[in-house]
Amino acid sequence: MSSHSNYNPTNPVEKWFDERLPLIRFSKEHLMDFPTPKNINYWWTFGAVLAIMLVMQIVTGIILAMHYVPNIEMAFDSVEHIRRNVNYGRIIQGTHAVGASMFFFAVYIHMFRGLYYGSYKAPREILWILGVIIFLLMMATSFMGYVLPWGQMSFWGATVITNVFSAIPLVGNTILEFLVGGFVVDNPTLNRFFSLHYLLPFIIAAVVALHIWALHVPGNGNPTGVEVKSSADTVPFHPYYTMKDLFVIVVFFIPFAWFVFFAPDILGHADNYIRANPFITPAKIVPEWYLLPFYAMLRAVDFDLLFINAKLGGVIVMFGSILILMVLPWLDRSKTRSGNFRPMFRPFFWLFVLNFMMLMYLGAQAAEGIYVILSKVGTAYYFGYFLIILPILARIETPKPLPNSISESILDKYEAKALKQEKMRGEGNSEIQGKGGK
Ligand code: HEM
Repeated sequence: MSSHSNYNPTNPVEKWFDERLPLIRFSKEHLMDFPTPKNINYWWTFGAVLAIMLVMQIVTGIILAMHYVPNIEMAFDSVEHIRRNVNYGRIIQGTHAVGASMFFFAVYIHMFRGLYYGSYKAPREILWILGVIIFLLMMATSFMGYVLPWGQMSFWGATVITNVFSAIPLVGNTILEFLVGGFVVDNPTLNRFFSLHYLLPFIIAAVVALHIWALHVPGNGNPTGVEVKSSADTVPFHPYYTMKDLFVIVVFFIPFAWFVFFAPDILGHADNYIRANPFITPAKIVPEWYLLPFYAMLRAVDFDLLFINAKLGGVIVMFGSILILMVLPWLDRSKTRSGNFRPMFRPFFWLFVLNFMMLMYLGAQAAEGIYVILSKVGTAYYFGYFLIILPILARIETPKPLPNSISESILDKYEAKALKQEKMRGEGNSEIQGKGGK
């Protein structure tokens, strides 16, 4: 995509700098003047929300790490110390803990936006795959972060999830021992989880840089799915989208702040405010809400299939549910990107969203009776959507005609609106005339 840079260094110092390290030129081309489709809607603001959330988590995390002690004897108390004694500790710890939930909330919106508008399709496959890698890293980071306070759910969650790796044939036990640093979850586990929990966000930041790079090669998609054809289709990123993004960030911070100030612990499990005790198993072991759909899929496989036992089957399904996203651009071969122009796709998509929410609910229930049956149905639909429904739809669906260009789609919309208004005005006038005539 051609850039609209109009950067001309005005003074000799700027010119000198620009010839050696064109940082200002780069920022101007990629942050200020970047040509962005005129028609992108609010669903496209969540990338910016996510970027802010990542910074937020890193900054609050660094402060927490100044006071947190990664030792099983002191971890729980050190979190309590942060909350009670450290200046603004309650707010910093609350922001970090609630922030994890808000981060995932935003990432789900961002991903479902991508699924609806076909943002993963050519030429944005690598951009999408980098996103899936970010998502995997986010899951690993949040899982390890949840272990750090060393509450009951930290300990038991870590025990259940690390144990999952032992199902992998041949190398499973070696991976498990390597992960937990011994045969059971203990102090070495906490040490390595702390170390990795500190490291991974920076790796996420690096992958986000690649993600944005991969975004800026083809440029942003848009709700019509029609590519940019001329400069009439775009506006500069600043001020149009800096302001739109900022507005959403402010709105996003309202519920975020509400949680931090009024209910900072409500999103965590009550058992995690009890010190870890290896001798008392909690009634239910559940991960945080945002990992529940994947946990439900892990537990849905409770039967052996040929040489694959139930435990390994669950692990394959759980990891497969994310890895399948990586090959999605090649599973959905429909030429039309946007769900707006795909009448048959839409009901299946919304069912997929509902199904995901159902799995989230089921992940928090006991693995028994109707819950297990529904988890199986939900897991089947999750995979069926990608492996059967999308490939078939690409063959049989007749999409609605696409607009010739982005600017045309906007003009069409306004023309239709103006025509409607004119018609209404006309009807109003004739009514008045009619009344006057009586
Ligand atoms: C820390 C996490 C992430 C950050 C900071 C981030 C950032 C961004 C930003 C700033 C944009 C451009 C604005 C927008 O479209 O919202 C974007 C676009 C995109 N992101 Fe992400 N992203 C993240 C995670 C993900 C994940 C997990 C996925 C998918 C699995 C993903 C897939 C995409 C796609 C496909 C686009 C292009 C959309 C289009 O222009 O049509 N991103 N991302």
